[in-house]
Amino acid sequence: MKKNLMVVLLAALVSAATTQLSYCQEDERYVAETDPLVLQKLEQWQDLKFGLLMHWGPYSQWGIVESWSICSEDEDWCRRKNPDYEEYKKQYENLKLSFNPVGFNPERWAQAAKNAGMKYVVFTTKHHDGFAMFDTKLSDYKVTAPDCPFSVNPRANITKEVFNAFRAEGLWAGAYFSKPDWHSEYYWWPNFATPDRNVNYNIPSYPERWEKFVGYTQGQIMELLGGDYGKVDILWLDGGWVRAMSDEEIARQMTSKEYKFTHLQSQDIRMDELVAKAREKQPGIIVVDRAVYGKNQNYLTPENTVPDKALPYPWESCIIAGGGWAWAPNPVFMSGRKAVHMLVDIVTKGGNLLLNIGPAPDGSWPEDAYKLLDDIGQWMKVNGEAIYGTRALAPYKDGKVCINRKGDNTWYLFYLADEGEKMPSVISMNGIKIPSGAVVTMPGTKVNLKWSNNQDGFDITMPVAIRNNPPTDYVWVVKVSF
Ligand code: GLC
Repeated sequence: MKKNLMVVLLAALVSAATTQLSYCQEDERYVAETDPLVLQKLEQWQDLKFGLLMHWGPYSQWGIVESWSICSEDEDWCRRKNPDYEEYKKQYENLKLSFNPVGFNPERWAQAAKNAGMKYVVFTTKHHDGFAMFDTKLSDYKVTAPDCPFSVNPRANITKEVFNAFRAEGLWAGAYFSKPDWHSEYYWWPNFATPDRNVNYNIPSYPERWEKFVGYTQGQIMELLGGDYGKVDILWLDGGWVRAMSDEEIARQMTSKEYKFTHLQSQDIRMDELVAKAREKQPGIIVVDRAVYGKNQNYLTPENTVPDKALPYPWESCIIAGGGWAWAPNPVFMSGRKAVHMLVDIVTKGGNLLLNIGPAPDGSWPEDAYKLLDDIGQWMKVNGEAIYGTRALAPYKDGKVCINRKGDNTWYLFYLADEGEKMPSVISMNGIKIPSGAVVTMPGTKVNLKWSNNQDGFDITMPVAIRNNPPTDYVWVVKVSF
């Protein structure tokens, strides 16, 4: 009995230690950039706080998960509507023959994003399926190919149009690009079956083929960054399994219980070389080689989650606003309250929010997407000063109150209000004290608020007039200047 207890205790200890370790490792795995231009740009990017992600391609016509259904992994997100794989894949690739989003109007998207307070866009120039939403010269599997009906549209080079429209509204342009390409014969060679997401041939046996893939991938990325698409601020690379891997790492992964691939191997596309070339064309460009720990991942990108604490490196949560990453029929969008709470939660932990909207097959956005952005925008118009250009400040959060700072002389407090909640008469926080002489106000109102420090922190008294008529809903913001 006693022995059993010891075992349980020991196991608990070990598991606590590993959890602790994985946190440490996570922090330690971030490799800081040294290029001063990139560092400067990363600082600016951390000021922006709020961006838009869009997943769009011929797959949107079926309202399915982007790309994944042509991948033969036994995962929920890889399900197909036709059980005959070969036939399905043909039908999937034929989606190109009917892709004709004549309602494409990126100006309307850009205006909506700007009004919501978004400061950058990240657009799927190419997802894993390999379909280029830009006019690549290196493949015919693209929106500008003659057999794609949209190719005759004057706005057929969709990526270019999106970047131009968003730039015109003052937003930064970011290129989502998938490193794996399930259409390229240099990645999925038709000579073999394609058992999983990985390259389907043994690279050391066919080095010339892999070399062609490297040239093709680097070539496409350089097409996007070479000038035709204007200034690109962020290169957001997905498909983290395409990366150089040591023999030790491969051995470790293949012997782990979770391992389920058949073709795990080092897939080196020579990222350092590529990034150097990219920065020759786009000095200071931020590169996010997602999930590949090393110097080419300038910020980390937790997916559809918000970390539970502030993180000591640049990061961005990408979050689905409604439906999936790609458009799904009748998507249900999150509420304005949820979005604003999430933005505040992320920003006060030092991160950025990249909110995803999937355009519909005809090139429109669901009206509810516009409503959501409008809702966020109403709040941002009053409280944006508490979001942009801020940095995390301990103790970050205490109950329903979050805190951050702007420079060294301003703090903002955020009270996360529940639906129907009445503003409390006192907003308090423990773990930090207000410096003497500080002036405390609420954006959108004109009165100075009474405050006092107590043993554990501070109290701010909210006047009845403000409590009865707060300047915004969702999150009430207080500014502390000293
Ligand atoms: C997931 C999905 C991928 C999507 C990405 C966006 O990794 O599998 O399709 O592009 O999330 O973050």
